[in-house]
Amino acid sequence: MSKILNRSLKKSEELWNEACNTILSGCQLYSKGPETHIKGVSPIYIEKGKNAHVWDPDGNEYIDYDMGLGPILLGYCYDAVDDAVLKQMRKGMGYSLVAPIEVEYAKLCIENIPCAEKVRFLKTGSSATEGAIRIARAFTGKKHVIRGEYHGWHEWTTSAESVRQGGIIDEVRNYVHKFEYNDFTALEKLFEEYKGEIAAVITEPVIMDKPENDFLNKLKNICESNGALLIFDEVVDGFRFSIGGAQKYFGVTPDLATFGKAAANGMPLSIIAGKREIMDAVDKNIFISTTFGGETLSLAAGIAVIKELKEKDVTARIWDLGKKIQENSNKLAKDLDVPIELKGYHCRMAFDYKDYTGQRDWLYNSIFMQECVKRGVLLGWGIFPCYTHTDDDIDFTLNVFEDAMKVYKKALKSGHPETFMEGTPLKIVLG
Ligand SMILES: Cc1ncc(COP(=O)(O)O)c(C=O)c1O
Repeated sequence: MSKILNRSLKKSEELWNEACNTILSGCQLYSKGPETHIKGVSPIYIEKGKNAHVWDPDGNEYIDYDMGLGPILLGYCYDAVDDAVLKQMRKGMGYSLVAPIEVEYAKLCIENIPCAEKVRFLKTGSSATEGAIRIARAFTGKKHVIRGEYHGWHEWTTSAESVRQGGIIDEVRNYVHKFEYNDFTALEKLFEEYKGEIAAVITEPVIMDKPENDFLNKLKNICESNGALLIFDEVVDGFRFSIGGAQKYFGVTPDLATFGKAAANGMPLSIIAGKREIMDAVDKNIFISTTFGGETLSLAAGIAVIKELKEKDVTARIWDLGKKIQENSNKLAKDLDVPIELKGYHCRMAFDYKDYTGQRDWLYNSIFMQECVKRGVLLGWGIFPCYTHTDDDIDFTLNVFEDAMKVYKKALKSGHPETFMEGTPLKIVLG
């Protein structure tokens, strides 16, 4: 049996009230905001972290599984990364000329990422995907883009979403076409409809569902035969699936790829990696340029992450931890007859919450997340094992999952699951 913690969330609530008064939408990333958690039950803020544990401003401790929404690969306040950042900080965060550390990190990326023959550094996943699309359009001379799931907040990607369309120019939509992962027929149709006009397909190499019927190779071939570039958006998968990303794991090398989140264990660093032929062809024609692109602290963190990945058994450990969570959680759900499944690959997973008729509803996510957070396990968008989650953390979590599943089952069987909510159910918003 797990224990329900005796918590106050007063400081979190007070801060949020002030934030709503001072910050547009209250926060910088919607998926970190209270709308995507259970208002009244989840903490709204995290004040500090160590390894896989975090503390809210009211002093409550949780085991975290969203890990900064993906970036925290090694753990919060991971010594080797923090030491590298502090060492670089004493030399300067960024200079008036280019820094040698840019070259050092570029060489490491090229050594380890299959499609990386040349790289470019930016700060966010969005700026990397924006840059990759600009490169693809410049290289091919074509305008249309086929895109998969989420790729950031800039115009071409937001324009293909269904919510929060304020400020987007209608015309942009004519050039962006969304497809569902694994739906190769839809892709063929788009290539037929916009024959000779597709600059690129951008997609995550994998999200939760496994690639079916040789999807990734077929994707590569259809791009090649239509003169379009294949861009793997590895902002989430990169460094997590392996040091060379999911492209290395699946053995399919795209023309370009974007990395972000886990590259620097929480420091803001993103990468566009690509074939030399493409990078060289656009070199004198393209404008991608930003003051903080070569900011040295994040590059020092990025180098430290690659060193840890190479010198320690980080990747294997993350996959082992994920396997333990996934297999045991799914076994619990089966034994208890609860329609919750932990899907995905061991290094990147997410819960699929349903009722007994197979329907999904954010209310169902909310009930489970509520019961977990009350017991000290903080869930969110994904389950991202990090190198410093311990076996004890996982055992504690599985114990909590068991109790949360029992409540979930009771809620569904009651016919009125909404009455089990002690706060406001979450509402997923874009980003
Ligand atoms: C696959 C993918 N690409 C791009 C992005 C955008 O990255 P950022 O939020 O760092 O701009 C995200 C963010 O979640 C993402 O999941």
